[in-house]
Amino acid sequence: MNLANRNLVTIDDLSNSEIEALFSLADEMANSPNEQAGLCQGKIMASLFFEPSTRTRLSFEAGMLRLGGRVITAVDIGASSLAKGESLADMARVVGSYANIIVTRHPWEGAAKVVADYAGVPVINAGDGSHEHPTQTLCDLYTIRKERRTLKGLRIALWGDLKHGRTIHSLIYALARFGATILFRPGPGLEMPEHVLRRLSTEYKGELKRYEAVNQEVEEGLFPIDAIYMTPSSPHQLAMLPDVSLQVELKAGVDALYVTRLQKERYAPTVEAQELKKGYPVVDKKLLKGKEFKKTLVMHPLPRVDELTHEVDADPRSMYFKQAAYGMPVRMALIALLLGAKEITIPEKDDSFALKPDYPVYKRDSGVKCPNINCVSNQETEARYIKPEFKIVSREPLTLRCVYCDHELHPRYVASSDWHEGRLENKRYHSADSHFARKIKPENLIIFASENEAQTQQFKPSSYVRQ
Ligand code: CP
Repeated sequence: MNLANRNLVTIDDLSNSEIEALFSLADEMANSPNEQAGLCQGKIMASLFFEPSTRTRLSFEAGMLRLGGRVITAVDIGASSLAKGESLADMARVVGSYANIIVTRHPWEGAAKVVADYAGVPVINAGDGSHEHPTQTLCDLYTIRKERRTLKGLRIALWGDLKHGRTIHSLIYALARFGATILFRPGPGLEMPEHVLRRLSTEYKGELKRYEAVNQEVEEGLFPIDAIYMTPSSPHQLAMLPDVSLQVELKAGVDALYVTRLQKERYAPTVEAQELKKGYPVVDKKLLKGKEFKKTLVMHPLPRVDELTHEVDADPRSMYFKQAAYGMPVRMALIALLLGAKEITIPEKDDSFALKPDYPVYKRDSGVKCPNINCVSNQETEARYIKPEFKIVSREPLTLRCVYCDHELHPRYVASSDWHEGRLENKRYHSADSHFARKIKPENLIIFASENEAQTQQFKPSSYVRQ
């Protein structure tokens, strides 16, 4: 199987079988890193890192050099023509004419998708804001597979900034696909975004149970979790005993504790940010004495700050420096595959992709915008050519998911392009939750951000508008 010319923008761009096959190739790269120099000779990788990076950028660049290719780099928006107001699309087109493959990191969510849409060469997302970081997930899964020999049916605890941690978001989708049971231990106010949870329960068909007693758990000296996500394929006890404490679940032990730092670059330096820092949970020797962590892999994408103490480094359960080191063979394998320099073997009928339901798409000139101010579609330089685009993921309630950053919105007013038949007196708008609104075919749907917007476009309220 040839993965040539594919992009890796989200972890869902790879099937489970492709991930496993990529790992076999990474094993080959790790076993003989000095024998790969012929694979990408004559190829150029553009490394566009518009946010700080040590591991991702350097392991990609070292990987390409080991494959015999060459690297061109831009690491500062201020030193590129983006600073002059150039759009990402124009930059992508140009860089795509200089390089055979692009690796990009950018603070805007959805930036990697835009680069992939315009570059004309394979694009790898090395982190787009708080959205996704799929190659970190590959390193994480590769580490788990090395240590546990399987990726299936594991119990993984996610710790820290679940709201802004892009490594967490890519990882949780992959874990769900491999049938993991996932425990959530967020810092206060840093819970997993609702749109991620919704996607887990609708597209991965798992079950989320929230748990309110975090503080009580801390007092009792138990591992404090605030929610647990159970995939349909993972064996667990809670489904059979719904009222039993989550600690029952924990008795079976945790395979990996995945720690993340507070993503302080995603906040303005306010008093609120100081408060988040104060309440942030810490992993230390004492916590790891818990029975549930006896055989736990302690993981962290790094860099770490205060959330994982240095005293844990010597513990054989600590995996984070291995995770970083595995970055090179994993990324070498990925580059070689996307450049078509290597092939992998996967089952002829690969049914291990994430479910990608055929949601109707909403894309009109007027109407709603993505609610995420950090979304690429909301940036001045990009709004000149990007038309906001959404998947209609639910009609009850009406829910739109931005195709760039995955954030969701619930518009309140809709109309039909069919029913008004061009006659002004028939142009009516309705509350989105009215039964009348739900009858409008997706292709005829017009969505308004507000009543004011509907009226500006000369629509009048129907009797299905709730006051
Ligand atoms: N894990 C990770 O993305 O590290 P860097 O920010 O150093 O690339």
